Amino acid sequence: MRQHDDTALMIYAFLNQKGGVGKTTLSIHTAAALSRYGRRVLLIDADPQGSALAWSNFRETPDFSVVGMAKATLHKEIEMMASDYDDVVIDGPPRLAELARSIILAADVVVIPLQPSPMDVWAAAETVDLIREAQVYKPELKCVLAINRKIANTAIGRDVRATLAELEVPILSSDIGQRVAFAESIVTGSTVLDQADKKATKEIERFMDELRRLT
Ligand SMILES: Nc1ncnc2c1ncn2[C@@H]1O[C@H](COP(=O)(O)OP(=O)(O)OP(=O)(O)O)[C@@H](O)[C@H]1O
Ligand SMILES: [Mg+2]
Repeated sequence: MRQHDDTALMIYAFLNQKGGVGKTTLSIHTAAALSRYGRRVLLIDADPQGSALAWSNFRETPDFSVVGMAKATLHKEIEMMASDYDDVVIDGPPRLAELARSIILAADVVVIPLQPSPMDVWAAAETVDLIREAQVYKPELKCVLAINRKIANTAIGRDVRATLAELEVPILSSDIGQRVAFAESIVTGSTVLDQADKKATKEIERFMDELRRLT
């Protein structure tokens, strides 16, 4: 088994069977943040929709590599693909259970982004089931929930943690807020780390610190 320390290769996968929860947004920001720590990062767009690849076509500063690989053989090829990198981030597709299984097998940590709504909590349960299946023969696999698009000071934002506890998966304490800067970054080929929104940058930094401490 691979040893997890500061120098070891880490493979982070963003997965949720539900669409539009922030898999691509958080994948891109994770890759960008890791490369700012001086890591050589590969972002694998494992979604046939190719959103991360499309983003990378607009980008001005190519500070990490982006490749498309939306095949259920990903777990067999990951070692070779990762050989020149310090970290790998996988942006997963919605639906497509077979591809999701392959991504789970490839990953060290699966992050399940979700929005603070009851519907998202139910949808996350499906993804959690896929991960539990894999953990039977891959017990070292880690999984965390990440709340995205939280609207500050709303009851639904507070209550979602209680509902999520039913899934019995750890929840990151650093929520990502609903911010225009995140939506803009996707269409402009940038990240919030390049923009003036310091609150968004701070959120990503806290999120990354917490994620790296897990591993
Ligand atoms: N924290 C946020 N604040 C504002 N907008 C956001 C945030 N996170 C995501 N969005 C927007 O929500 C939409 C969906 O996000 P994203 O594409 O990252 O989700 P996804 O899970 O990758 O979707 P899909 O399942 O279709 O691949 C995008 O328009 C994105 O810009
Ligand atoms: Mg996506």
